[in-house]
Amino acid sequence: MIKKAVFPIAGLGTRFLPATKASAKEMLPVVDKPLIQYAVEEAYAAGIRHMIFVTGRTKRSIEDHFDTAYELENELELAGKTALLKVARSIAPEDMICSYVRQPRALGLGHAVLCAKELVGREPFAVLLADDLMVGKPSVMAQMVQQFAEWQASLLAVQDVPREHTNRYGIVSGQSVAPDLVDLSGIVEKPAPEVAPTTLAVAGRYILTPGIFKELENLPRGVGGEIQLTDGIAQLLRREKVFAFRYEGTRYDCGSKLGFLQATVDLAEHHDEVGPEFSEWLAARHKVDAGVPK
Ligand code: G1P
Repeated sequence: MIKKAVFPIAGLGTRFLPATKASAKEMLPVVDKPLIQYAVEEAYAAGIRHMIFVTGRTKRSIEDHFDTAYELENELELAGKTALLKVARSIAPEDMICSYVRQPRALGLGHAVLCAKELVGREPFAVLLADDLMVGKPSVMAQMVQQFAEWQASLLAVQDVPREHTNRYGIVSGQSVAPDLVDLSGIVEKPAPEVAPTTLAVAGRYILTPGIFKELENLPRGVGGEIQLTDGIAQLLRREKVFAFRYEGTRYDCGSKLGFLQATVDLAEHHDEVGPEFSEWLAARHKVDAGVPK
């Protein structure tokens, strides 16, 4: 029922310089998989098959990543490396379609979503910000698609954050209608802790009705001089119902070095190939740090 997902990936990734000077921040690997692949797999696990990437300069490697790599596959096949061949092929399953559209200028997240308007058309769609790596079972987007089936309205993934962090997020307010659902009455982008209406913050997962495009088209620039998706949602709220959904799972803020490192350590500990040995190494290291000999 939600068939398309939009991935805004035109951001410059300045927080990860120098790594991101000439390459895409979304291609930074957490253990062995680029950030963007986690987000695409999450959408795929939710039944979404059409992936729409809103790209910019230095993002070509993302197009190559989700394309078939004939030479690589050929080499692996000849060498009889079937496990690796399976890994290479799984990145772009045959029933997945990828479309790319450029965001010519970095005018903000709302503008990026607007760039996907023609490709999305007149149907509800998902938005996934690859910076937020989400681990959930079922996948966080699958949980949202399930909620959408019930409510047929726009839906934002939210989580509680410490009050001192409200200025990093879109912050929502509204009326609880179920333990995990808030009927939205307001949303504001990155309010200072002193004025934030609540501490319920938007994580980078959205399901939006196509009505959002009309709102985005008519928006003035908001916080940071950018066309904010949050402001578009605030307008949409005046015409349609929007819900905030408390998802089940863990969010890693891979847009920050700390969150990126946390994701790396957690996912490495659970990794099929290196997990057990890495956990052992970590535990031994902690003991040394605590002054206990190995
Ligand atoms: C964006 C959105 C913000 C949201 C956040 C989630 O901010 O503008 O509303 O809470 O993603 O990660 P950014 O992190 O791009 O500054």
